[in-house]
Amino acid sequence: MKSISKLALFLTLLFVPASMLISQESEARQKILILGDSISMAYGPFVKQQLSEFADVSRPVRNGKDENCAGTIHGVANLDRWLAAAGEVDLIFFNFGLHDLKRVDRDTKNYSNNPADPRQAEPDEYRQQLSQIVARLKQTEARLVFVTTTPVPVGDVKPRREVGDPLHYNAIARTVVDHQGIEVLDLYAPALKNLAEWQQPVNVHFNPKGSEELAKLVSARAREVLARKDASAANPAPWTADNDQVERLSQKGDFLYCEANVPEFELPDVFGAGGKAVGKDQWPAQRKAMIELFESEMYGRPPVQLESATIRFETGPLIASEVDPRISTRTVTAIIGSGQKELFRFPLRIFQPSAEGPFPAIVLIHNREFPDASAAIEIPTGFLPVSMLVEQGYAVAVFYTTGVEPDRADANGEGIRAACDREFGDSPARPDYWGCLTAWAWGASRVADYLVTDRTFSADQLTVIGHSRGGKTALWAAARDERFAVAISNESGCGGAALSRRKYGETVARISTAFPYWFAPKFADYANREQELPFDQHQLIGLIAPRGVCIGSASEDLWADPRGEYLALAHTAPVYKLLGAPSISDLTMPAPGEQVTVGRTSYHLRPGAHDLTEGDWLRYLTFLNQQFKRE
Ligand code: GCU
Repeated sequence: MKSISKLALFLTLLFVPASMLISQESEARQKILILGDSISMAYGPFVKQQLSEFADVSRPVRNGKDENCAGTIHGVANLDRWLAAAGEVDLIFFNFGLHDLKRVDRDTKNYSNNPADPRQAEPDEYRQQLSQIVARLKQTEARLVFVTTTPVPVGDVKPRREVGDPLHYNAIARTVVDHQGIEVLDLYAPALKNLAEWQQPVNVHFNPKGSEELAKLVSARAREVLARKDASAANPAPWTADNDQVERLSQKGDFLYCEANVPEFELPDVFGAGGKAVGKDQWPAQRKAMIELFESEMYGRPPVQLESATIRFETGPLIASEVDPRISTRTVTAIIGSGQKELFRFPLRIFQPSAEGPFPAIVLIHNREFPDASAAIEIPTGFLPVSMLVEQGYAVAVFYTTGVEPDRADANGEGIRAACDREFGDSPARPDYWGCLTAWAWGASRVADYLVTDRTFSADQLTVIGHSRGGKTALWAAARDERFAVAISNESGCGGAALSRRKYGETVARISTAFPYWFAPKFADYANREQELPFDQHQLIGLIAPRGVCIGSASEDLWADPRGEYLALAHTAPVYKLLGAPSISDLTMPAPGEQVTVGRTSYHLRPGAHDLTEGDWLRYLTFLNQQFKRE
């Protein structure tokens, strides 16, 4: 129809019978194939209806009936047949997972209700089989969307499935599809939010309302994908920000998002004052001096009197979870004393395998609403995927940022800083008064105090992780406290992993006015004067060398400057080299989805928005398993 002139089109419309018009129109109709299990069999008819005006939606059929694509093992065996039957299609939605993670009898492979039985496909088999499916799908011309597996509810679900498994399997799937340039439609999170209303009781299936709602999400994505001009082809090339997003953000005019406009700048030497002349022997003293500089100019320092404070821990009982007995939890209260007096207390929550340790432990700086222990297990989120971590043999010690220091300008007398003001006469007027980031980093070290005294945890395998403001804190905590063997910064951006001198996305001027209480008062002096900072953030990361550092960015999180985060990491290479540890040094940005690991350093850029997701965690676990030789 495209080549028909306007006049011809007019005549056609006038004289062609209506029936012919419809058939001409149907030539342009889009073809969509849905490959998935019974969840998609239930939402499929709604998708069909919702897209009926422009698309034909199909799914595999066998003996005249809709066919369940089931688990990846079934997918590998039948995919050729399904694709041949569907013919050429424009878009394929595919999901595998919910069958893979169900328990089956070891011998008969029949469904089982016994949690001790294996899953239909254990995580490694799932990864491998899904990779085969993806490789085959990539041979088609169709655009591809992977749809995540929906939640398993709490209760006696038959056959047996674990509530934490969908997240884990989705994380694996993301690592398989991400670096193939295949996009993901997440049904897990929206379904989790609406589980009570959408899902059948104690059943993985959805009620009609739930299926219709899931279908709306699928249909919306189909419209969006098919409206895009260019197919989302695999993009193994180095990442660049999406042009449309850059344009949209730039139009607002407040911040710099166009790479071409990044000012020229010279980075301070990563070794700090004295530069390359600093040898291995001088490094500890140099490191100390640089920490002091970061304290006085940027993050602030705790009052000296706090160094002689005492600490003790009140430990609650270790309780195996009813929902998932493989996980045990304990609440611990850290109590800080000054002389005979109690100065301050804050709670932490530990999740660990119900087995004998010692376990490597991960300190999570939790800057979101703090879940109670059972909610964290019953409602596994990407931010805190407890069972995924515990199943891989890790303990997680979680503390709530606001429990240590309120995350707001007016702490209203609460928090460790106000306690010190009262006790030691400390004052926010001091130019190097500690900001929240330092207070939280101090909190992370107190959690480490607990972990190193309990033999259940491997004292030499402590990791500190945080997201966003928590990620800034994680880097600063590990820079200050050498007991952390690994620091993980998820999308920490300005004041974290991103180079300040690039002025890309969030700037010093903006962060020190929007969040002045995160930093020392002195830091505001560098607003619009980044080039005068006596350091840049590559030096913060360098302070952690030769220990492990893992940086994660997200492709749409331009506010946090993914490239600035990667470059900061790559620019630490001379320090790692001095200390005899291999590390990332290539200044070329990796491709989206790819995890680059060199020696003690790792970087990945997850396709998607600002968040800590199960896909990020899986990459961090991969790195930790390598570092701690747990593969
Ligand atoms: C804001 C802030 C960032 C910070 C983020 C977060 O966006 O500008 O610097 O990282 O909040 O912590 O979520």
